[in-house]
Amino acid sequence: SYLGLDLGTSGLRALLVDADGQPIGATERDYPLSHPHAGWSEQDPADWIAALDSAVEELRATYPQFADLRGIGVAGQMHGATLLDASDTVLRPCILWNDSRSHAEAAALDRTEKVRDLSGNIVFPGFTAPKLEWVRTHEPEIFERIAKVLLPAAYLNLYLTGDHVADMSDSAGTSWLDVGQRCWSDDLLALGHMRRDQMPRLVEGTEAAGTLRPALAQRWGLSQTVTVAGGAGDNAAAACGIGALNEGQGFVSLGTSGVLLAARDGYAPAPETAVHTFCHAVPGRWYQMGVMLSATASLNWFSRITGCKPADLTAELGPDLHRPGTVRFLPYLSGERTPHNDSTARGLFSGLGSGTGRTDMTRAILEGVAFGLRDSFEALRATHASLDELIAIGGGTRSPYWLRLIATVLDTPLRLPESSEFGAALGAARLAMVATGQGDEESVMTPPHLSAPILPVPETRAAFDEAYESFRQAYAWQSSRPM
Ligand code: XUL
Repeated sequence: SYLGLDLGTSGLRALLVDADGQPIGATERDYPLSHPHAGWSEQDPADWIAALDSAVEELRATYPQFADLRGIGVAGQMHGATLLDASDTVLRPCILWNDSRSHAEAAALDRTEKVRDLSGNIVFPGFTAPKLEWVRTHEPEIFERIAKVLLPAAYLNLYLTGDHVADMSDSAGTSWLDVGQRCWSDDLLALGHMRRDQMPRLVEGTEAAGTLRPALAQRWGLSQTVTVAGGAGDNAAAACGIGALNEGQGFVSLGTSGVLLAARDGYAPAPETAVHTFCHAVPGRWYQMGVMLSATASLNWFSRITGCKPADLTAELGPDLHRPGTVRFLPYLSGERTPHNDSTARGLFSGLGSGTGRTDMTRAILEGVAFGLRDSFEALRATHASLDELIAIGGGTRSPYWLRLIATVLDTPLRLPESSEFGAALGAARLAMVATGQGDEESVMTPPHLSAPILPVPETRAAFDEAYESFRQAYAWQSSRPM
């Protein structure tokens, strides 16, 4: 069997699959997220380890197939900075992908010559390099003791193997990697005041990063050698999970963040569009994606305010797609990446009237997220990515209303994986399969069985195009006001 781990923002998912990559069983463990100051977002890496240990204990106790474990792959929330001293002790809480404290440092690095050319991307505030610049200025005593900087997935690789190893897809989101050449860039490291010896060793996601530490193997009751794959950032892993390796294949993901991803055959960065261009988790491939920071995060925020569960809020809308209402919502609760690269943008409701009710506001939120995805869609189109159909994944896809709305706003059919969808965890298990020689990436990373397409509703298209224009104007209006 093979184990795929998805170290997410709200919790860890562990999926056990058989030698054909078919799911045997899965479990999840949640952990907290802390926001000690406005714009900060942190996690304690010890919580990830506790979640992993406890999830594995359950899988071991429940599924006898665990005893035949041959490989493990880790997918992780991207960009987080886990800082370690020379004895691998964690120096401070991990600063996560949705933390915007280092926006000034990001802007300064982004303006520096060569940075976009080598990294292929805007230096977004959530990326790793600006975080380290922030630590250098604000926590110099910690900065001086940093022996290694690991992304969340690489930190689990360290726990599993005892080695500092990271894969290309995750490392591409640091602003220290030469994304075209797939190696650390001495220029980028120097500009970020980092050294090569502070970086983990690089491998492809499908290569072996190492083997399971004897102490862990013993605790888990395993006597055979267990290979740990390089792993991946969660978006690349999700692409492996749905078989999106080639040009024309892609997905829309409705998670905490919203992602529109297109696999690309070559490396053609386009930072001016604010799309991300990263290495894929398989050798010789790249992908591009637009990222919005608050997708289900927007609905969850409204759920906290109204005291209604997200599923109840969306159920109130009924099954049929409504034309856009007069209420607009800007989903920029934590700022935005694609297309604005604006960490100071904030959420906004407009067009409220005395008759506005909760359902109108829920609708406006779903529409605002759909329009945010349309922004990413237009940005990807500008890079000549062609997406005739998209696979939809993530927790938000449980709302049929939201899916129909997104299909209409993007004017693109969506399809859902037919059986329960494991996204990044399945992709991680597949990386482990390839790393142990169970097959090559083309034979292992196949598309799942898909539902019938969810089609756009043509008679509402024009109204949604108009509403999209007013959504764009609402941002222009907001960004021209003094804060
Ligand atoms: C991608 C990004 C998010 C995280 C979520 O650049 O920051 O999608 O990977 O875990």
